[in-house]
Amino acid sequence: MASKVERNFSELFQGFSKLDREERLARLQEMGALSGEDVRFLRAGAHVPIELAEKFIENVVGFFQLPLGVATNFEIDGRSRVIPMAVEETSIIAAASKTAKWVRENGSITTEMRGHEIIGQIQIAKVSDFGHVAELVKLHEQEWVTAANRDVAAGLVSRGGGVKRIDVRRVERGDGKAMAVLHVFADPCDAMGANIINQVCEYLKGPVELATQEKVTMCILSNLVDSRLTRARVEMLGLEAELMERIEEASLFAQQDPYRAATNNKGVLNGIDPILIATGNDWRAVEAGVHSYATRDGRYRSITCWKREQNRLVGVFEAPVVLGVVGGVTTLHPTAKLCLKMLQVKSAEELSRICAAVGLVQNLGALRALTTVGIIEGHMKLHIKNLTLGAGALEREVPFVQKRLEEILSLHKRISLSNAIEVLKELRAERARELP
Ligand code: MEV
Repeated sequence: MASKVERNFSELFQGFSKLDREERLARLQEMGALSGEDVRFLRAGAHVPIELAEKFIENVVGFFQLPLGVATNFEIDGRSRVIPMAVEETSIIAAASKTAKWVRENGSITTEMRGHEIIGQIQIAKVSDFGHVAELVKLHEQEWVTAANRDVAAGLVSRGGGVKRIDVRRVERGDGKAMAVLHVFADPCDAMGANIINQVCEYLKGPVELATQEKVTMCILSNLVDSRLTRARVEMLGLEAELMERIEEASLFAQQDPYRAATNNKGVLNGIDPILIATGNDWRAVEAGVHSYATRDGRYRSITCWKREQNRLVGVFEAPVVLGVVGGVTTLHPTAKLCLKMLQVKSAEELSRICAAVGLVQNLGALRALTTVGIIEGHMKLHIKNLTLGAGALEREVPFVQKRLEEILSLHKRISLSNAIEVLKELRAERARELP
């Protein structure tokens, strides 16, 4: 049975999209997702001092603002969540919220993380005897792990993480010879871990060269973190057999055809990237990880899979979604801090699991629309307002133009900015004729 808090969440999410901004803020405050101070900050435009930008990047000239919204109705691992999303694309948040409601009413979302270690790479480009280098790495592994944990990663070790092990891989050069690539595995706890793993690898460069008598060429983390995978699973019950079949077919299409896989995965990332941006995480790293994992068997495939299992539709997302809830922008940017608070996450793992769940639900929403009514109708309905404003309609003209555009849309199934301009022109001509 749902707890009082859970019931409150679903009640407070009811009709959320129809509220005005003040009412939405009030609801979020009532849910405990925002404090009074947070509400004042957002109401005042979430202004961030320009000096802060200087701490992040070089040659600063200003800030770039994106809209921040919240996706509603998400119940992940039995717990309701408010999902902050910073994104410019119309309909992502609406589709996520609508699909999350569908899932909440007909199924469940569960998540897990498999493995905790991130990967740093140390390349020895030219090895005369790979087998000998591999033996030496194994011989010195424990000594290097201990030294790196003592001299570089002591902070992580005190929090239960740190460097765990070192492997060596043979990578063919393409000229008949091989390179040796050391993989340093470390648990970054609640940080994304990029800085620390890079530092560890650079620290190990000297000892590796000394022990192997080989030249280290470069050291850098890998974004293909298949040793720290995030999984989300959606189970839906009681759907029509035909709908399940259509979604299964759409999923197969994205598994088998890289052209479709690219678009499918873009749709999954529609759910993930906006959370990464809102929480100050490195979305390029996650994108690289997801796409490289999608190509792990040598062919680019869908990062999600939907199948019928008897009377259930089951969807799975699995990929590296490595992010942090401490350090860097996540702790310095006031809006990122606020968004993390809104999510009520306590660890990087929890945030990663939420991202995976939202990505999978976003994918389900897209597949459901694509295999039934098509994407244009819902998308364009939401887009009508943008077109109306884009055509230059004044506030008092907006309702008329929107209504007319909706009619054109349902008649022709298509709509564009030129329609909006045309409708506005007609409206103004009509009004001019009506004037005495
Ligand atoms: C558009 O941003 C995303 C979709 O193209 C995703 C998909 O095709 O699965 C609708």
